[in-house]
Amino acid sequence: MYGLNGVLAITLLKKILHKFTFLRSLKTRIFLLLLIVGLIPCVSMRYAILQNYEQRAVSIRTSDITTQLRILANHLITYHYLQDTSSEVINAEINQLSTLYDGRVMVINSDLRIVKDTYGISENKTIISEEVLRCAKGESASKYDRDNGYIEMTIPITETVASGELEDAQRETEIVRGVMLVSASTDSIMATLDALSRQALIIEAIVILAIVVASVMAARVLIRPFEKITLALDNAQEGYTNDPICVNDCIETEHIGDAFNRVLGRMKVLDDSRQEFVSNVSHELKTPITSMKVLADSLISQKDAPIELYQEFMEDIAAEVEREDKIITDLLALVKMDRTVADMNITEMDINVLVELIMRRLRPIAQKKDVELVYESVRPVTAAVDEVKITLVLSNLVENAIKYNREHGWVKVTLDADHQFFTVTVADSGIGIPADSLDHIYERFYRVDKSRSREIGGTGLGLAIARNAVLMHHGSINAESTEGEGTVFTVKIPLSYIGG
Ligand SMILES: Nc1ncnc2c1ncn2[C@@H]1O[C@H](COP(=O)(O)OP(=O)(O)OP(=O)(O)O)[C@@H](O)[C@H]1O
Ligand SMILES: [Mg+2]
Repeated sequence: MYGLNGVLAITLLKKILHKFTFLRSLKTRIFLLLLIVGLIPCVSMRYAILQNYEQRAVSIRTSDITTQLRILANHLITYHYLQDTSSEVINAEINQLSTLYDGRVMVINSDLRIVKDTYGISENKTIISEEVLRCAKGESASKYDRDNGYIEMTIPITETVASGELEDAQRETEIVRGVMLVSASTDSIMATLDALSRQALIIEAIVILAIVVASVMAARVLIRPFEKITLALDNAQEGYTNDPICVNDCIETEHIGDAFNRVLGRMKVLDDSRQEFVSNVSHELKTPITSMKVLADSLISQKDAPIELYQEFMEDIAAEVEREDKIITDLLALVKMDRTVADMNITEMDINVLVELIMRRLRPIAQKKDVELVYESVRPVTAAVDEVKITLVLSNLVENAIKYNREHGWVKVTLDADHQFFTVTVADSGIGIPADSLDHIYERFYRVDKSRSREIGGTGLGLAIARNAVLMHHGSINAESTEGEGTVFTVKIPLSYIGG
């Protein structure tokens, strides 16, 4: 229940914070928080001190009056005042008491008749009130009436008499002969309380002012590092500086700066790779065209070139056109995969059949290069995959394994699976990939040995396409290689496709 209330309260607070724009400022929040934290003890202290003073003052006044009244009660008995109120001494004493406490003293006898009233208005009247009746039984009482500003007290007038017979002569009994009803003003206490309260208010106002000033200053100081970092970010965004953002005022801003520098770094890498990609694309697209132009120009310049030369050059031109076509097809495949996963066309299929088909298609190329192509299937595997994309992955890997192989070499493709993934490994006995190139082979247009790769043919897009296709299946691709000995590519794909 409390948990629910707490959640509701937090939601409400969040809504309020959101509604009032000024409350969304961290500076305002810090200021308000410090103000509240400072104000609460200040105000509650004033309240507690004043209340404590009032209670103590009233209790001291009550006990003072009680002492005085007890003395007076003894005198009343001694002077038989309840029977005869003419005693000058007692009357003076009673009047003095009433003046001293700025109040009213009434003496009531055992018949509940008022024998003396310092106000002189109720004498000889009978008084029947709960307090008086209780007091007549020996119970004294006091009551503080804050609203009307007085303390009302009832004190029994008792006489001590010896009781019992001879053997019991020592025993004494208190007999209530009358009651004294006194109301004493608390105006003086209130006056002191007012004065104290005024002083406390002044002190409080000064403290509040100090807290406000301190809160404003603290809020400013605390917020300054964040303002600095905002300025630094603005400067970076407007391109005034390429320096890393560094605001070391506090750990939090240091972290923000570090995080932002990392983002900037990554953006720079992306930007660089985009620029490199564009220049690579233009270069790759221009190369076949340049070759074609050279071939055509040389034919044009030779007026009576033999038909055989035409034949040969036209074959070269056709090869270049084919190369251009492959580059464009590969680029389109990459762009398509860069887009979204929405284009995935997932079907449940027999992976063994798929791999066998790819192997059959590539066998003539392998034979041409005198490379032995071996396929080993550990178990039957069916999985939900995009057939076109997985075909792209595996044919690129097997193609590479054939292309970058040695004479009389071999390529071994293995298919295995566990309950979650199927794994295809493509191992070859080829030239291998140097360790420092292993991290780069998936980059677009990256080729280990440019001149050699050029001789072999290729654009450096195959592995980029393969990796993208694998990632779209939420799988992984890894390569291990020893230069001069061979390379093993391992592709791991989930058996069932996880969308998103
Ligand atoms: N099995 C392998 N053995 C040795 N080197 C390899 C192997 N596979 C890839 N490489 C190296 O990685 C580079 C990138 O391969 P990738 O398939 O991306 O491009 P490519 O084969 O050069 O061109 P294409 O776009 O036609 O596939 C290759 O140029 C080659 O240097
Ligand atoms: Mg390739």
